[in-house]
Amino acid sequence: MAKMKSKKTAARPVRPKVRAKPVRVAVVGLGFMGVTHLRVYQEIAGVQIVAVCDAVRLPVNGILEGVTGNIKKSDDIDLGRQVKVFRELSDVLALPEVDLVDLCTPTPLHPRQAVAALKAGKHVLCEKPLARTSLSAKGVLEVANSSPGFLMPAMCMRFWPGWSWLKEVVEKKSYGKILSASFRRLSEMPRWSKQGTYTGGADPGGALFDLHIHDTDFVQFLFGKPRAVFSTGVTSAGGSIDHVATQYMYPGGPAVYAEGSWLMAQGFNMAYTIHLERATLDFDLTRGAKALLVLEQGKSPSYILCDGPDGYSNEIRYFVEAVRSRTAPVTVTALDGLGALKICEAEEKSVRTGQVVQI
Ligand SMILES: NC(=O)c1ccc[n+]([C@@H]2O[C@H](COP(=O)([O-])OP(=O)(O)OC[C@H]3O[C@@H](n4cnc5c(N)ncnc54)[C@H](O)[C@@H]3O)[C@@H](O)[C@H]2O)c1
Repeated sequence: MAKMKSKKTAARPVRPKVRAKPVRVAVVGLGFMGVTHLRVYQEIAGVQIVAVCDAVRLPVNGILEGVTGNIKKSDDIDLGRQVKVFRELSDVLALPEVDLVDLCTPTPLHPRQAVAALKAGKHVLCEKPLARTSLSAKGVLEVANSSPGFLMPAMCMRFWPGWSWLKEVVEKKSYGKILSASFRRLSEMPRWSKQGTYTGGADPGGALFDLHIHDTDFVQFLFGKPRAVFSTGVTSAGGSIDHVATQYMYPGGPAVYAEGSWLMAQGFNMAYTIHLERATLDFDLTRGAKALLVLEQGKSPSYILCDGPDGYSNEIRYFVEAVRSRTAPVTVTALDGLGALKICEAEEKSVRTGQVVQI
């Protein structure tokens, strides 16, 4: 009997595992948002926090004190002694090893700092709003368009559990067409900043530009640019709009509303109610694990679990991946940041004039 030839398996070359280059990050502005972002970066494999910068609040021996924000108080954060610490953004930008600059500074500083970082060849994640006015945001976009780095405004609701799900539901028409959509975002005055981000002469733009812009952006994310807006509101003694209720006009489309306020006596909540052809979807943060309720005719109410990482985490991971893979962000773009500001400006004009404002 002929012996069966033993098949020799071709030796496969053993490739050494190539480690992807880390994305090297600098966080600028170490208040509520800075600490929130730092915590996320610490959890992402392949991210190195190489520098931090703040005009006032700096880590001592690598430890940065926790802060209180609108959702929860954070613990102290250990950045390690090797992290580079600066008071001036220009010193951060001089570091060739920084790939990504994350701006968590007060809003009026965003345009100047984003432009400087982009001109230094860095990728920029910029807290919302991109700027206080659409005019200054346009200036940032012009620089971004001719710079090698990506610019992404941190519109975190596009990444928030229960909200990114809603976007999918709308796109897939899972429950039919949307008939009406209303959003609410209510907060007490943001008093957590000891550095005057929301008071003391800084101009964050009141609840309209600082808080409500999240829903304005989400409205344009779901439905595109509205034809016009009609808003009423409450204006503070300083002139900013601290409570706004807006109707977004989509001729032939759904009825869309949003309310944003800093007049809540205490706490924070965000919510939406969406009526579709075959269901009502109701999100209310105060319900905790039962935040997202689905009501369908003839069926028992059900809840969609919105666990896992929050919108800040998802948004930052998305941008880090964009930088790592050199793929420009699409879920939110700098143009979206500008678009949200333009709609908010129309809402402001409507509050001040009592008129419908075309966009
Ligand atoms: N996405 C969200 O849900 C969300 C929530 C809260 C705040 N924000 C935005 O984040 C930004 C920061 O808000 P915050 O609540 O973290 O404010 P904050 O006051 O807690 O922190 C801002 C920090 O920036 C520092 N700073 C000021 N000038 C500086 C400079 N020239 N260089 C470096 N650092 C400087 C301050 O010392 C302070 O520590 C604002 O634009 C705000 O609208 C976004």
